[in-house]
Amino acid sequence: MSSTPREAALRAMPGETLDPQDWDEIRAQGHRMLDDMIDYIATIRERPVWRPIPDVVRAQFRADLPREPTDLDEVYRTFTDFIAPYTTGNVHPGFMGWVHGGGSPVGMLAEMLAAGLNANLGGRDHIPIEVERQIVEWTRQMFGFPDSASGIFVTGTSMANLMAVLVARISALGTSARRQGIGQDGTLLTAYTSRAAHGCITRAMDIAGFGSDALRCIAVDRAHRIDVAALRAQIARDRAAGRKPFLVVGSAGTVDVGAIDDLSALASLCREEALWFHVDGAFGALGVLSPVLAPKLAGIEQADSIALDFHKWGQVPYDAGFLLVRDGERHRDAFAAPAAYLRREARGLAAGSPWPCDLGPDLSRGFRALKTWFTLKTYGIAKLGAVISRCCALAGYLEARVKAEPRLELLAPVNLNIVCFRYRAADADRVNGEIVVNIQESGIAAPSTTVLDGALAIRAAIVNHRTDIGDIDALVEAVLEFGARRSAGRDRLSAIA
Ligand SMILES: Cc1ncc(COP(=O)(O)O)c(C=O)c1O
Repeated sequence: MSSTPREAALRAMPGETLDPQDWDEIRAQGHRMLDDMIDYIATIRERPVWRPIPDVVRAQFRADLPREPTDLDEVYRTFTDFIAPYTTGNVHPGFMGWVHGGGSPVGMLAEMLAAGLNANLGGRDHIPIEVERQIVEWTRQMFGFPDSASGIFVTGTSMANLMAVLVARISALGTSARRQGIGQDGTLLTAYTSRAAHGCITRAMDIAGFGSDALRCIAVDRAHRIDVAALRAQIARDRAAGRKPFLVVGSAGTVDVGAIDDLSALASLCREEALWFHVDGAFGALGVLSPVLAPKLAGIEQADSIALDFHKWGQVPYDAGFLLVRDGERHRDAFAAPAAYLRREARGLAAGSPWPCDLGPDLSRGFRALKTWFTLKTYGIAKLGAVISRCCALAGYLEARVKAEPRLELLAPVNLNIVCFRYRAADADRVNGEIVVNIQESGIAAPSTTVLDGALAIRAAIVNHRTDIGDIDALVEAVLEFGARRSAGRDRLSAIA
């Protein structure tokens, strides 16, 4: 058969594949990269936790749009010289800021495998989806949820909390709200959480269209747990004023101090009041894997939904947030949307409905489940639970060191893995802020700060499985050293004045 001129022209054109000409070359380069990254993790202690970024390094990433190709080896050199040394530092055992997981070599390898498969987990019938379903099933078992539960990987708990608010919204208003908007009824819907809850709950209420004023932030007790009596009273007041309470968000590990609300009491209250009970368990929920912590989480199994991050205490590399919903049908009601181009079939590649895209806003989704599956399978939940217990034991050790040191002051009870303390000084907020920045810049450790009852605290959250007693000691010594230097500097200045 003679070809058309257009076909002949196409046949004459060079191919445009992105695959290499020489597979051996990329194989060798890949092996070097893998070796380097294994070394990077194995020798992490030999480097600073974090280092300030020189202008010349930042300038590397202000380059023009690359029109022409660059040799992979050269691109990789930019990575080794200008990217790898300047990360947040959370792989390092001295990292104790915010709430960051440490990742693991196994998770890293799994992430490479996932990238090779390049699977899209929005839907369709393929085994990567079954791997995600396996994690849903394991998570369901961890929290004692019924068979009807559903779950989905998301970026992180901020997204999982937002999605929980959206599921609770449709549960309260019915699916017609998905076409008609929240309407007059929706403007009366009111949600509740504690003053210690993470700011993403407020943001979720805003994004969901209720406005952040529709979230009541209830007072906490001395242990930073929601005051359940005050919550009950606020619900009664709101009902009397014609508002429609619909959702309570409990915290399983508050971001500031790691407080766990009385989840059983919240579950009972929500049952009595017919409210959706969501638990923000960003890092604390996986405490169910630790025999020491599990009793503190009693009641979580009664939640309507739980948000959590495998990338925090689960040590899965970023990102691996997760939402678990007790009633899978309600979960689907909030998100499933038929489309001709997403038609489901009983057989073939379009089989296997429902698909993950029916459970959240994303259609294209990566294979977060693989690194989570590798992590859970390779280490086992007993080991991961032991890591969690040990992080709390190390927090207890830090608490004891702070209490034993007259120059230091504990600023909050240590509930879990977070210790908030400060160096005693006249101008304590400023001094402690400077201490934290100085420690970060020294590369010795990386705590962060928070404000508790108006006082700036040095905050150490122990999440990384590599952190050990020596890292805690190094933090304490650094706080004392920088605190003494700061005080001496100030004394000198006041003497001059
Ligand atoms: C209690 C709590 N909720 C929500 C979040 C937000 O999680 P993510 O950063 O995964 O979105 C965090 C983050 O540390 C948290 O500690």
